[in-house]
Amino acid sequence: MQSLRDRVALIIGGNSGIGKATAFAFADAGAKVVIAARRRAEGEEVAEQLRARGAAAMFITLDVTVEQDIVAGVAATVAAYGRLDCAVNSAGVCEDFGPVTDVDGDAFDRMMAVNVRGTLLGMKHQLRQMVAQGGGGSIVNVASILSHVGTPTGSAYVATKHAVLGITRSAALGHARQNIRVNCVAPTAITGTPMVDSALAHFPAVMEPVIAAIPMGRPGRADEVGRAIAWLSSDDASFITGHSLALDGAQLSA
Ligand SMILES: NC(=O)c1ccc[n+]([C@@H]2O[C@H](COP(=O)([O-])OP(=O)(O)OC[C@H]3O[C@@H](n4cnc5c(N)ncnc54)[C@H](OP(=O)(O)O)[C@@H]3O)[C@@H](O)[C@H]2O)c1
Repeated sequence: MQSLRDRVALIIGGNSGIGKATAFAFADAGAKVVIAARRRAEGEEVAEQLRARGAAAMFITLDVTVEQDIVAGVAATVAAYGRLDCAVNSAGVCEDFGPVTDVDGDAFDRMMAVNVRGTLLGMKHQLRQMVAQGGGGSIVNVASILSHVGTPTGSAYVATKHAVLGITRSAALGHARQNIRVNCVAPTAITGTPMVDSALAHFPAVMEPVIAAIPMGRPGRADEVGRAIAWLSSDDASFITGHSLALDGAQLSA
């Protein structure tokens, strides 16, 4: 993989799960990493682990439902490291995976606020910075295989992830001439993440068949997603934009 040496990356949702694994992948490729999320203790711990590996790293508190937090997060990144080359939007919640007939409207609103509005406003301010500084850039949004297919239950979450694919493609078209690449990753179930551990606990009848149906015969790992995001953010992927990269053990091929 081409190096991310000295690239400056903002990873929102970087204190946990896929975002945390992505922060490690960026750090190992030489990037300066800012991780952002709400939970400070977890974030400071990850930042310390990154620094212990020799990376320049810091944590900032940020809630993607508060636009001013996103503005401040981008500004803090630029203040610390001078620019913003790469952004990863991994903040996401799954509070309702039931059937349409049981959809909780408040849970749907909260998922839309984080997964869709948070990603869209994240891109808004990341793109403004990248356009202003010039020289291109890369944004990777964490979508899902459920950006591409439906499930018998989970319509509310599926709606948010379909939306992430749409805004990724639109932003890629809008910024292609500025060499700002905008892609997403589409993971299947990634075990060891709080999100899937919680879904397995609450909706085993839904999740267990999903995992059993993965053609490679196993769920994914967060480090596999993190390294794919780092690659997609690197110059090795210099002509890839508007793309959704499946990390699914061939599940979408079935
Ligand atoms: N795990 C899977 O199998 C899987 C599969 C496909 C896609 N995904 C997607 O992957 C992404 C990461 O999920 P994960 O599996 O790694 O779960 P996770 O460990 O629960 O990570 C979720 C991250 O989002 C952050 N977050 C939640 N609400 C936020 C808010 N309002 N503002 C800022 N940050 C917020 C969390 O940090 P704080 O709580 O500290 O804010 C945490 O860093 C999500 O978008 C999810 O939909 C996951």
